[in-house]
Order: sequence, then C-alpha cells, then structure tokens
Amino acid sequence: MLWIPGPTEVRPEILAELARPTIGHRTPGMAELHERIDPPLNNAFGLGAGTTSQVAVHSTTGTGMMEASLRGAGERILSVVNGAFSKRFMQVAESLGKEVHVLEVAWGMGVLPEDLAAALENEGPFDAVTLVANETSTGVRTPLGPIGEVMRQHEDTHLLVDVVSYIAGMPVDFDTNGLDFAFAGVQKAFALPPGIAVFCASERYLERARSVSDRGFFLDPVRTLEGHINRKTPVTPAIPHYNALARQLEDIDAGVTLPEGERDKKGADAWRARFEKHERMRERTLSWASGHGLEPFPGEGFRSATVSCVSAGDLDIAGFVAGLKERGFEISNGYGDLKGRTFRIGHMGDHMESDLEVLLAAADSVISELSERAPA
Ligand SMILES: Cc1ncc(COP(=O)(O)O)c(C=O)c1O
Repeated sequence: MLWIPGPTEVRPEILAELARPTIGHRTPGMAELHERIDPPLNNAFGLGAGTTSQVAVHSTTGTGMMEASLRGAGERILSVVNGAFSKRFMQVAESLGKEVHVLEVAWGMGVLPEDLAAALENEGPFDAVTLVANETSTGVRTPLGPIGEVMRQHEDTHLLVDVVSYIAGMPVDFDTNGLDFAFAGVQKAFALPPGIAVFCASERYLERARSVSDRGFFLDPVRTLEGHINRKTPVTPAIPHYNALARQLEDIDAGVTLPEGERDKKGADAWRARFEKHERMRERTLSWASGHGLEPFPGEGFRSATVSCVSAGDLDIAGFVAGLKERGFEISNGYGDLKGRTFRIGHMGDHMESDLEVLLAAADSVISELSERAPA
C-alpha cells in the first residue's frame, strides 16, 4: 500500500473509470464530463458563488503547470524557495528567461509574512511571486491567509501557488487568500492516478496574461482555460483521466470518501470534513513519532496535514523503509539532502485513520526488530 507523499493509493472504483470506452473529445459526452467536473472542482479550490475565478483541467503534470502559470506572468518574478519543489518552480522561471529574484527560506520553515513583505518592498516591484503551499520534500505547509494579506498591499503582483500536495487535503480558499493562479497534478490528495492537472486563475491574472506575448501553445494558460470553458480543449485530452477525475470529485463532494459516520456531509461540508480527517492523521502520525522519541522536521505552525516529514534521529531509515516494504507498506526516505536524515509518510487522499493505525502498528514492529538487531 502506498503511503509515499504521492502518488497515493487509488480506489478500485476510480481505476475502473479509466477502463471506460474512449469517446471523442469533440462530442457532447466530453462536454458532459466538463459539466460534471467544474462544480466540485470549484469546491476543491474553495470558490464561492459569484466568484470570477475560473477552474480548468490540462493534460499535463504539476511541473507543466508551473511553466503554464509563468507563461502568463510578467517578467520580474520573486520565487520563495524553501524546498526542492519551490526550487524547481524558480528554475522553471529561470528557464523561461524571467528575471528571477530568490527569497531563500530555511528548509523546514515556511516564508514569514514579514519577510515576504520586506522582499516585495525592498526588491520590488515584481509581476508575480511563486510559492509552493505544501513542500512535499519537507512536509512544510505555508499558511496562505497571512501571505494573502501581504499580497493585498501589492496589488500589481500576482500570487502563483503550487498546491500539488495541498489541494483536496487542506483548504485552498483561492479568492479569500488572494491567489491569482493555483495548480496541481491530481496524484496526491485527490487520490487519482497521475496524468492530468487542475488549475484555477483569477480574472486579473487572465487579463494580464492575455497581454503577455509568446506564451507558447501547449502550456499557454489562456488557450487552455478558454478551451476548457468553451468545452473545446486545444489538444486531445487524457479522456480516461477526465472520467476518473469526474467520479472522484463527485464522490468527495457527496461525502462518499469520508469515514463512516460522516458520509451524510455534502458539498463544502464534505470537503471540510476531508481536511479535518487529514489534520487528525497528521496529529496521530506525529504523536506516534514522538512516542519513539522522533521529532517532526518542520517547525511549529508549518506542519502539513498531508505529508509528515520526521527527523530520524538514530533510526536506520533505509532499514525502516525496507522493513515496511517487506510488510506491504511503502513510505519515503528524505528528499535530496534530507535522505538518511528524515522519512516521509504521505497520509493523503482516501487513506482512512483505521488504515493509518495498521501502518503505524507495522512501523512499531519494524522499529522493534531494528532495535533487536542493533549492536548493544
Ligand atoms: C509540491 C510539488 N510540486 C510539483 C511537483 C511535480 O509534479 P509532477 O511530477 O506532476 O510534474 C511535485 C511532485 O511530487 C510536488 O510534490
């Protein structure tokens, strides 16, 4: 069973959606799929009635959407870098020839609003800020509310946010938090197979993006979004994945994926209950770690509800990961420089708290086996 920080386990009902007969993408059937996807996708991004922001789907990955978001942005970019994926976002900006300024933040921490404000004031003006809301490499979640407050003081600077391992596990609240562009591959907390991405753009982002020249074709955010709205995707989309997305969004919206006893919750209430489940799973994972004398890697206030990154202390991580694998559970070693120093458990998607207990019991047995084997 996959407990890595994505991709994560996909329910059999969802896998079955991939096996539906193929339909043409210029057909009423495809338009219907779009109609099924949009309302619950609005809920995933936390859009209220009367929003002017727009959601869409693209047949690309999280990294593809990093590039798409920047293709509609201006030239001067401030990149917040606090882990491997935010560094990638910055590198994508550089690869597009943008003028990139880096706001370096210690791995394990999220950017502090006052540091962001200082960078915007002292080094600005910027056309856009790039931010990874949930650094999958470190299990760091950056609270978006205070970031949005800072951005409100800089009306001409757009906020581009990677919500890859965040959305469907924590509340995006796109408009309330002042986001201009947010995107995700679907293989993380949506619990879908990898292959497509979802995104949301504000009206003002789109307005500016339309005036940006040389946005390319496949990753042009305006062309993609307009194609979605007009039910005429510019390219042949990954249709089986649209089927899976529609079903999973409807199921989440209908409370189907919630723990028993909560399945009467619908719409925004069902999404909130999903986020609360992930919060409880984080608490449980970290209290289990603490029981073994292990500390969370992220600082207080920055601990993700979808990925727990734990400092390993004296634990032999390679042995721990291998022992779990022998028992049928996959978790991840630390990312990049954190390999051998941390391990990560992805308690995202449709995993239940009861499943987590089974994983943690297996983890207990691996740890006691390792300590028996360790030289006295
Ligand atoms: C936060 C974050 N951003 C971006 C990516 C890259 O996504 P993809 O591999 O779908 O391009 C990942 C992948 O794990 C991620 O965790």
